[in-house]
Amino acid sequence: MLNLQEIQNRAQSLQREFEEALARVETLNDLEALRIRFLARKGAIPSLFDELRTLSPEERKQAGKVLNTLRDYAQREFDSLRSRLSAPHPAELKIDLSLPGRRRPFASLHPLTQTLRDIKRIFQLMGFSVAEGPEVEDDYHNFEALNFPPDHPARDMQDTFFITDRVLLRTHTSPVQIRVMEHSRPPIRVIIPGRVYRNEAISARSYCLFHQVEGLAVDHHITFAELKGTLASFARQFYGENLRYRFRPSFFPFTEPSAEMDISCFLCGGKGCRVCKYTGWLEILGCGMVDPNVFEAVGYDSEEYTGYAFGMGIERIAMLRYGIEDIRLFYDNDLRFLEQF
Ligand code: DAH
Repeated sequence: MLNLQEIQNRAQSLQREFEEALARVETLNDLEALRIRFLARKGAIPSLFDELRTLSPEERKQAGKVLNTLRDYAQREFDSLRSRLSAPHPAELKIDLSLPGRRRPFASLHPLTQTLRDIKRIFQLMGFSVAEGPEVEDDYHNFEALNFPPDHPARDMQDTFFITDRVLLRTHTSPVQIRVMEHSRPPIRVIIPGRVYRNEAISARSYCLFHQVEGLAVDHHITFAELKGTLASFARQFYGENLRYRFRPSFFPFTEPSAEMDISCFLCGGKGCRVCKYTGWLEILGCGMVDPNVFEAVGYDSEEYTGYAFGMGIERIAMLRYGIEDIRLFYDNDLRFLEQF
């Protein structure tokens, strides 16, 4: 039987013993031995609680406080050492040092951007500069100045998103021809890339927006032969030297005469396949000599100057080039598609 003083002394020495024993613990087995010695039901600390029984209530309260503090302290120290010992040693972690490192994903340019860059580079080397114009356009630049009179049936060729009666989303890049000529004098050699909008039913072949590259050359003595030579040179550089091409008569209000350019199908070489719809030819652009009425609209003397213009759809060219069968893929931002370029 111990009195209050003796219990307090014993608690102090038990704490020292516990700390010394704790400092020697190296393994979980050592720790278990420590637990049995100090903390288990029959261990030194709980046993000391038995001594409280013979004390007066007042003393028991005092001694109980001391013992509770000791027991809580020992338990905390035990718990924290156990969690440190249970954590796996770095050498035991299963690290496969032969695994290749994680690569940072590289971004790449959108296929439309790549296609546009290639088109630009070829025309820039032939002396063309690059111009741009507004996507929100007025009726005058989009139609009227391009020789589509109000109510001309040619306007039916394009389903337009109107913002107001006179303001619309441009349906082609041709209005920028007008804007360029309004602000400069010949000689002009310019290409005009940009976004255009059409109110069409969305499908694998058509989308409500797409991109075009327009071309315009105006100078003294520009001929249809120069138009053909320029476009043939572009097509050979873009698709390859062995390319065959042809020009078919066509109609556009802003050119006279007008034509469309076909290239021999690079998939089947002209024999006929699904991509060229068994014709052997692929249409890639519209073109023609600038109509005198267009020159009139911008105040150019059509007796003095001649010019040619052309326009091509970038999506169509990229689809043919990469074998993409659905135009909507360009706008879905699906990484599984984009990562292929
Ligand atoms: N603007 C026409 C279209 O969107 C394409 C075009 C055809 C542009 C002939 C031209 C051209 O400059 O001369 O269908």
